[in-house]
Amino acid sequence: MDLIRRPRRLRQSPAFRELVAETTLRPADLILPMFIVDGIDEPHEIPSMPGVYQHTFDSLKRAAHEALDAGVKCVDLFGVPLDEDKDETGSVAWDPQGILNRGIEELRREFGDDLIVMADTCLDEFTSHGHCGVVDDKGRVKNDETVKLYQDMARSQARAGAHMVSPSGMMDGQIAAIREALDEAGHEDVAIMAYSAKYASAFFGPFRDAVGSSLEGDRRTYQQDPRNLRESLLEIDLDIEEGADFVMVKPGLPYLDVLAAAVERSCVPVAVYQVSGEYAMIKAAAQNGWINGEAVMLESLTAFKRAGADQILTYFATDAARLLK
Ligand code: PBG
Repeated sequence: MDLIRRPRRLRQSPAFRELVAETTLRPADLILPMFIVDGIDEPHEIPSMPGVYQHTFDSLKRAAHEALDAGVKCVDLFGVPLDEDKDETGSVAWDPQGILNRGIEELRREFGDDLIVMADTCLDEFTSHGHCGVVDDKGRVKNDETVKLYQDMARSQARAGAHMVSPSGMMDGQIAAIREALDEAGHEDVAIMAYSAKYASAFFGPFRDAVGSSLEGDRRTYQQDPRNLRESLLEIDLDIEEGADFVMVKPGLPYLDVLAAAVERSCVPVAVYQVSGEYAMIKAAAQNGWINGEAVMLESLTAFKRAGADQILTYFATDAARLLK
C-alpha cells in the first residue's frame, strides 16, 4: 500500500510506546477509602468487596502503613457506629468519642503529616433511617437543617485532626457553610474535597453493605439524576464559588463524560471516585477467571487519568500503587 501515515510506526516497541504515552498513572494520584468500625475485635472482609475490610484501629493502621509504603499519600476514612448509637440526627457523627473521630485521631497520632487524612463528612452511616441528613415528618431530607449538622461534623473532624473533610451529602450550600464553620473555629488550613457531581447510582450497592446502611428507599431528591450532565457543571461551579479546594465526580467509569466536562470547566483539582460497585464487578469477573483483574484494574485507572482526573479514589489504591512502583 502507498501510505504516508502509518500510525503503527509509533507502537512498534515498548520504548516507542513509552516515548509517546500521553497519560501517566502514579501511586500519589490514588486515594484509599477505608472503613473504621465500632465494636469489632478483628477486621471483617466485606463479602461484596473481596480484599476490602471493615477495620479495627489496629488493622486500620496496618492497612494505612501498607498504602503509604506503596506510595499512596491520602486515605479517606468512613466510620461505622454501633447500631444502637444511630439516631434521627446522626449525632454520634460529631461526638468527639464517635468512631470516625477516634479513627481520625488514631491515624494522625500514627502518621503525623506523612499521610493525608481525609474524613467523609456525611450523616448516612450515623442516622437511624440511613439518609444523608435529617428528615421531616413526610420523610423528606431537610436541606438547611442538615447543613448545620454538617458544620458540627466538619468542625469535630478538624478538631480530631483531619487534614481534609469531604462532604458527600449533596445538600445545597454545604461547601460555603462548612468553609465558614471551619474558618470560624480556626481551621483555615483544613481543605475541602467536595463531592460535587454525585449521582443517585446503583453502583453504590456494595458500599451500603460495607457501612451497614439503614437506608430504605433512595437518595434521588439530593443525589443527581444519571440522565443529566449540564446539572453537574452547575454543581461544580457552585462548589468552586463556595470555596471547594477539590471537586469530584462520582461514580467513575460510567460517568467519564461528566469527568471530562468537569476537567474542562474546573480551575481546582478534579477527583473521581471509582465506587464500590465498579470495584466489585472487576473483582468478581477476575475471580471467575473471566478477565485479567490486574490488567483491568490498571486500564480503568488509566482511563480516569486520560479523561483528565487529577486524583482517583479507589479501593484498588494499595494494590495498584504496588504494581506501579
Ligand atoms: C454517602 C456515600 C456513599 C458512598 C460514599 N459516600 C453512598 C451513598 O451515597 O449511598 C459510596 C461509595 C462507594 O460506593 O464506593 N456518604
